[in-house]
Amino acid sequence: MELVRRSCPVLLLVLGLSSGAVINWPTKEGKEVWDYVTVRKDAHMFWWLYYATNPCKNFSELPLVMWLQGGPGGSSTGFGNFEEIGPLDSNLKPRKTTWLQSASLLFVDNPVGTGFSYVNSSGAYAKDLAMVVSDMMVLLKDFFSCHKEFQAVPFYIFSESYGGKMAAGISLELHKAVQQGTIPCNFAGVALGDSWISPIDSVLSWGPYLYSMSLLDDQGLKDVSKIAEQVLDAVNQEHYVEATKLWGKAEWVIEQNTDNVNFYNILTKDTPQSPKKSSLEFSQSYLVRLGQRHLRLLHQDALSQLMNGPIRKKLKIIPEDRSWGGQATEVFTHMEGDFMKPVISIVDKLLEAGVNVTVYNGQLDLIVDTMGQEAWVRKLTWAELPKFNQLKWKPLYSDPESSETSAFVKSYKNLAFYWILRAGHMVPSDQGPMALKLMRMVTKQEEDALSRR
Ligand SMILES: *[C@@H]1O[C@H](CO)[C@@H](O)[C@H](O)[C@H]1NC(C)=O
Ligand SMILES: *[C@@H]1O[C@H](CO)[C@@H](O)[C@H](O)[C@H]1NC(C)=O
Ligand SMILES: *[C@@H]1O[C@H](CO)[C@@H](O)[C@H](O)[C@H]1NC(C)=O
Repeated sequence: MELVRRSCPVLLLVLGLSSGAVINWPTKEGKEVWDYVTVRKDAHMFWWLYYATNPCKNFSELPLVMWLQGGPGGSSTGFGNFEEIGPLDSNLKPRKTTWLQSASLLFVDNPVGTGFSYVNSSGAYAKDLAMVVSDMMVLLKDFFSCHKEFQAVPFYIFSESYGGKMAAGISLELHKAVQQGTIPCNFAGVALGDSWISPIDSVLSWGPYLYSMSLLDDQGLKDVSKIAEQVLDAVNQEHYVEATKLWGKAEWVIEQNTDNVNFYNILTKDTPQSPKKSSLEFSQSYLVRLGQRHLRLLHQDALSQLMNGPIRKKLKIIPEDRSWGGQATEVFTHMEGDFMKPVISIVDKLLEAGVNVTVYNGQLDLIVDTMGQEAWVRKLTWAELPKFNQLKWKPLYSDPESSETSAFVKSYKNLAFYWILRAGHMVPSDQGPMALKLMRMVTKQEEDALSRR
């Protein structure tokens, strides 16, 4: 370890003198390490770890948070790191609300093929959640064996979108592995952000949600409800490939009726892809188009240039013939048969096993709207659910000086639900201070403000 013990009061004093600010996190760069793990034949997974940089605490006194991006095919080391919670933003400027001030951060590009991860043969892409989970178990086993300094540190998994579905599956398997003693890790909980736990509950709530927000008229609601029923039929019959196709169609119906609402934040508009429709693009299947639509935001040009430019230069170990995001669409399309499968039963198992589960959702998200999340939570068979339901929520304020409500929270035993206001799908991008507070609350570094009043 290279960290030098720093005397906290002195450091704060120095910072206070030099900047005049009350709190100013040191800009000194912390320790970072990264590597590949071969999780299966021809399947190479990339991870990037940042040790917490806090002026008062050694990293060993702070939790370790693993962040999982959605898609599938979205890169944690790229999007999550530079657009959401990492120490630097995509202009390489320090991020005030970085989670690194309160946790060490482990970004993993999964499933294989995502971000800087890659497969050598097209047969090596993951095709379902079980494979995604077993790949991650290989990675985590390797990680905790090689980084013994994290074995006792509380380990949390935070996730977004499809990353939430992966996080649920990974958490259950990790919990088992820890109990069996096969992975030396102090697993402390999972947080599911705008997560794709029950796709059909999202699809079924799109119409009512948009209608209530003045983004559908009666005719539009009728159209959206009709296609949503078709998705429901396909899911009920377990025709998951068909359900994925119909889901794509449902999105198209919504775009037609809402003048292209942005699925990731309903107060903004989706600017349809610049019509550089090459013949190649026209020949692509609906699945490729669907994948590209959902991965586009996570692979914006500026971020791609950063990752494929200065970042890969810094990392040094990225094979020359591989590019960041180069296999993302393939990652997505290979999961076609898995996409619409629900994992509510996995969340139930986590709750029964006593794993701490947090659900958080942005108010302005459409693709995984809050109504849909509430719908699947109601379907849990967890014995404590009635008591959870009877609770009243409590308001949260990210700025103690302000009376502006930032979120509501309800928590009972090992389940917590956060309603994050004024945030879309990417909660930390939209509400950085509240997202940081959420992480600190979930990892028991902060009590909720109300209980201290
Ligand atoms: C931080 O914690 C690690 C692991 O416990 C320890 O090896 C290291 O000496 C600590 N560093 C400081 C500065 O206390
Ligand atoms: C797999 O791909 C990497 C990166 O392109 C390459 O360096 C390696 O030689 C390949 N391995 C095999 C077995 O083809
Ligand atoms: C899990 O949640 C319970 C209830 O909120 C809490 O008492 C406990 O400290 C949590 N455990 C961890 C490891 O965060």
